[in-house]
Amino acid sequence: MQLTRTGATRIAMIHGPNLNMLGIRDPETYGKEDFASLNRRIETYAKQIGVEVTIQQSNSEGAIIDFIQNSRGWAEVIIINPGAYTHYSYAIRDALADSRLPIIEVHISNVHAREEFRRHSVISPITTGQIVGFGAQGYLLAVEAAKRLIEESHR
Ligand code: DQA
Repeated sequence: MQLTRTGATRIAMIHGPNLNMLGIRDPETYGKEDFASLNRRIETYAKQIGVEVTIQQSNSEGAIIDFIQNSRGWAEVIIINPGAYTHYSYAIRDALADSRLPIIEVHISNVHAREEFRRHSVISPITTGQIVGFGAQGYLLAVEAAKRLIEESHR
């Protein structure tokens, strides 16, 4: 028997520290688009491809961990750009691993082409995959990847 899944994929999108400053912060690296406009674009794209997305941002490690813990029970996948926490937060890594959800890590810039400390992510080993260096477009790619991932897992 063929089972049809009608519920839309549920995605928790989490932005880490300083990403609320997009458009103002180092536009050469992170682009000219501001944070509100980026989030509108993510929401519009999510609607267009038929997925549900919640978007949260914090500059604090503890608040990000709360977002991750609160995603359990609702989200089917987490998309996260942990900002500089990427490079050293074992606490965020543990929270992501404990969620037992598929994790997609996004970086706006190509972290591998920048300073040495940005080349190492403590998050990457517990992710399904990373989207790095495509600018703000990376978030839309991540939303599409999340949809495909969840749909395939239900096939
Ligand atoms: C970033 C890269 C990090 O190294 C940096 O600390 C950020 C943004 C990115 O999206 O390219 O805050 O995660």
